[in-house]
Amino acid sequence: MNIAIIGSGNIGSGLALTFGQTAYNVILSSRNEESTRAVVAKLGKTNVKASNIADAVKASEVVILATPYDAVSSLTNAADFSGKIVIDVTNPVKADFSGLSVGFETSAAEEIQKLLPQATVVKAFNTVFAQVYEQGLEFDGHKAQTFVAANDDVAKQTVLSLANEAGFEAVDAGALTNARYLEPLAYMNIHFGYMLNKGTQIIPAWLSR
Ligand SMILES: NC(=O)c1ccc[n+]([C@@H]2O[C@H](COP(=O)([O-])OP(=O)(O)OC[C@H]3O[C@@H](n4cnc5c(N)ncnc54)[C@H](OP(=O)(O)O)[C@@H]3O)[C@@H](O)[C@H]2O)c1
Repeated sequence: MNIAIIGSGNIGSGLALTFGQTAYNVILSSRNEESTRAVVAKLGKTNVKASNIADAVKASEVVILATPYDAVSSLTNAADFSGKIVIDVTNPVKADFSGLSVGFETSAAEEIQKLLPQATVVKAFNTVFAQVYEQGLEFDGHKAQTFVAANDDVAKQTVLSLANEAGFEAVDAGALTNARYLEPLAYMNIHFGYMLNKGTQIIPAWLSR
């Protein structure tokens, strides 16, 4: 399976590194193919390649959106997302980090599903700091969790499997509407990390017994 990643910044490159350690082919893309090539060269993974956005999406069954939330509306014409599983990693954080621009009655993921009606949107990886990928997905013997929310069971199972193969403990987080709670959870993680000085080697986890 090919996985396209749109956005080669902190999260795009972190996910490319992580999925570059699996058997999947990763195609990293952004508006600037040259800078994306430089990121790919730095990652040094033979199964991670660079491409333009349209070709990356065309060649892939799964597409990860790793751009700012506000950029997604400009991506709808950049590629044909029909039939693709689109993993939404975005958090609609306001520019001044004072909170989220979307919430309560909708979420970034649900708004992206409206923008891409021919695709199947799955929320995942949004509660994981980019810096976590640099140091790996193990926290004191526990795997990093990622919460996977989607309406389509096949798409959800695909993403749960992908995440588990990449080294996460993937947690079924129910329907896509639960992105309304996962996005504030990510904001709380940002708040712990930066405002309450816990740093970026932290991650939310659901414990059970
Ligand atoms: N950083 C984290 O720890 C973290 C954790 C979880 C989720 N997230 C979410 O992940 C997303 C990416 O965050 P990031 O930290 O990786 O940001 P970033 O380092 O600024 O990277 C953003 C990427 O998106 C691209 N981009 C911006 N506008 C675009 C457009 N209109 N069309 C196509 N590509 C565009 C940028 O390309 P250019 O270089 O061409 O601008 C860049 O490659 C955000 O939604 C964020 O909320 C971040």
